[in-house]
Amino acid sequence: MQGVFIEPVSGIRGELRVPGDKSISHRAALFGGMAEGETHITDFLLGEDCLSTLSCLKGLGVEWEQKGTEVWIRGQGMDSWEEPQDVLDVGNSGTTMRLLLGVLAGSPFAATLTGDSSIRRRPMRRVGDPLREMGARILGRQGGNYAPLTIQGGTLQGKEIRTEVASAQVKSALILAGLRAQGETTVIEPVLSRDHTERMLQAFGANLVAAGPRVLVKSGKPLHGQEISVPGDISSAAFLLVLASLIKSGELIIRDVGVNPTRTGILDALRLMGADIEERDIKEISGEPRATLVVRPAPLHGVEIRGEMIPRLIDELPVFAVAACLAEGETVVRDAQELRVKESDRIRTVVEGLKALGAKIEELPDGFWIIGQKTLRGGQAQSHGDHRLAMAWAVAGMLSQEGVSLEGMEAAAVSYPNFLEDVRTVSFK
Ligand code: S3P
Repeated sequence: MQGVFIEPVSGIRGELRVPGDKSISHRAALFGGMAEGETHITDFLLGEDCLSTLSCLKGLGVEWEQKGTEVWIRGQGMDSWEEPQDVLDVGNSGTTMRLLLGVLAGSPFAATLTGDSSIRRRPMRRVGDPLREMGARILGRQGGNYAPLTIQGGTLQGKEIRTEVASAQVKSALILAGLRAQGETTVIEPVLSRDHTERMLQAFGANLVAAGPRVLVKSGKPLHGQEISVPGDISSAAFLLVLASLIKSGELIIRDVGVNPTRTGILDALRLMGADIEERDIKEISGEPRATLVVRPAPLHGVEIRGEMIPRLIDELPVFAVAACLAEGETVVRDAQELRVKESDRIRTVVEGLKALGAKIEELPDGFWIIGQKTLRGGQAQSHGDHRLAMAWAVAGMLSQEGVSLEGMEAAAVSYPNFLEDVRTVSFK
């Protein structure tokens, strides 16, 4: 494990672009592999998760070429996929595992998927159960809930499925299975989760109608290769938004950030706390809105976040908690029990991690309760192999009084490989 000392900084100035959106990069590669004809992706995220998707595609017989952040997927249609010769390794990537299960449910062969120790602890029955209802056979540990999972795909029957959790991974898996199921498939979520799958599949030519949390998909229409430009990842930008909001002085410009409304909960939450974040040059490319974000320091105060807002900022909650510790007054996050089944149990790891740095924070079954003190002492922190914790603790260190000695910074490579280098180019002591 890599240990680093994160020193406090006092200012930020400059302009940068964060790496490509993780959710959109996964989908562009996967749908490209299912489509007929070439898909050309620009600003693809070279994070470990998306590289896992590319390597699984290779294992399934899909050819591709990558040069820097440009990727060409040479799709020959989903029926051209081949039975993998070996176990498919998704690494740390829940999106790869769950979306692939959706495609493999309709592929007439067997495949076994596994991943790292974190992925082997994450619940998969939420995808497996509805896919079984549609006709797939899936075996795995604990009644098929944990990887390694073996899936035997085949003929699927379209169904109306109400998902128990607002999860874009579950929704996407069912939509992808629906592309090859007999009849219609309807997926209804309790609350709308990120809708990148719906937007991108429509561009690829799928027969799909999305109306809020309800998606109807019909089989029979082949997908066609596309040109996809990936916006910067708002989940990566979130670390910089918190840093630039709570630092003493300066201004940060983050170009070309995806601002899909199903992902912008962090902008709403920080603004509710009093943050000064401006959106400029809003435009839509490849079906996804993007904007330049301009952030300046501002005094933040505590807020309550719950309900429909939660899926719109679920991945940003660790760094949001850092912001809440440095704000004035009380912050409460509720309805976020999904945090318990992310790359780590992010309720427990966030609360323990911030307490160790001197924060006043308590665990709730479905969130946390924080008394912001406008300062954070600093101390020892560890990422638990969770990329978003690694970066949240780095931000905490930069905003702390004494700095943070951080173990496991390398986990950031899952979604933002050059995070520390980027922050160092724009921040100063
Ligand atoms: C993702 C969906 C979310 C999110 C994850 C990426 C996606 O997970 O936390 O980082 O790309 O569909 P859930 O679908 O489990 O909520």
